[in-house]
Amino acid sequence: MRFLYVVGTRPNFVKTAPVIGALRERLPEARHTIVHTGQHYDRLMSEVFLEELGVPAPDFMLEVGSGTHAAQTARTMERLEPVLADERPDLVIVPGDVNSTLAAALTAVKMGIEVAHLESGLRSFDMTMPEEVNRIVADRFARLLFLHSEEAIENLRREGIPEERMHFVGNTMIDTLVALEGRFRAAGAAARLGVEPGSYLLVTLHRPALVDGPLLPATISRLAALADEMPVVFPVHPRTRKMLEEVEADHPGLSLVEPLGYVDFLSLLADAGAVLTDSGGIQEETTYLGVPCFTLRDNTERPVTVRAGTNTLLGLDPAAIAGIPAALAERDAAPSEPPPLWDGRASQRIADLLAG
Ligand code: UD1
Repeated sequence: MRFLYVVGTRPNFVKTAPVIGALRERLPEARHTIVHTGQHYDRLMSEVFLEELGVPAPDFMLEVGSGTHAAQTARTMERLEPVLADERPDLVIVPGDVNSTLAAALTAVKMGIEVAHLESGLRSFDMTMPEEVNRIVADRFARLLFLHSEEAIENLRREGIPEERMHFVGNTMIDTLVALEGRFRAAGAAARLGVEPGSYLLVTLHRPALVDGPLLPATISRLAALADEMPVVFPVHPRTRKMLEEVEADHPGLSLVEPLGYVDFLSLLADAGAVLTDSGGIQEETTYLGVPCFTLRDNTERPVTVRAGTNTLLGLDPAAIAGIPAALAERDAAPSEPPPLWDGRASQRIADLLAG
């Protein structure tokens, strides 16, 4: 068997690392080829993650970099095609919903190579999100769909996808979190940033709908106001950093920091009093860790996190940030159960299926 994994962005590494590990262990005789598209390329967005996650150095670096959706997708397809032609994998494994995912799935299917999609079947039902388009295409063309939550089954059925392609295996991102738990519990990132565990709001925002327009200055001024009540720590994604250059963000209590490595980020997440985000993965990690999460979006493709009781959809409305302290005070602090199969063993289930 020849497996070829295509990764390109920070969350891709987190979702794929345990699958590569499990398959290499289970099928050491098989060929395991890692292709990094280069969609994310800053050391803090890429290399640091691969090192911390113990992913072997990629066999191919496509260096596609940033660009418009068409340019980034087209460059990835053009550079991946000769790699697939030479390697002739039996299965191309793609995670998530980023442009690299779409490009890799399309390239492989057009070459008659089978595709497996990790984190299949999520739907926000919002076609203005590039990720929604990417995941629909990947699901449509993948032969193996690895599902991390039960609602994905219904979403895929509605699109007429045959049952035999679906495999409910659980959440591989949580596999990584479980594997790193000893390290992040000992990392003490909060103390290094000068905040008390349990006291602060951790913020991550990077979606174009929020950061590429007028909502960003409004969000920063709401965060600055909130910082009078609780410290706010905001590791800033490069897209957001670029947009922030125009915005006055100086305020005591509001701390804008560089993107963090994954162990430090999980440490800060596990110790946060609450989290404000527009990321998909962070809605899941907070659910697993039982940390209150406020999502600054109108919708989520991960309703399982809302049902679990940890995630609250605030809407795409910076004014809603002011309500966070009151919502925290009223919150039922009963511990939540992680969703089914978010148990650290999803990658093992995938290895069982592929080795069987
Ligand atoms: C991408 C994904 C998004 C995912 C996110 C995770 C798409 C359409 N979007 O968004 O779904 O949630 O990754 O982080 O695939 N940049 C750098 N250095 C880097 C990477 C990006 O400076 O290493 C800057 C560039 O200015 C670039 C911008 O960030 O233009 C956006 O990068 P891009 O990969 O296009 O999208 P993300 O916003 O990172």
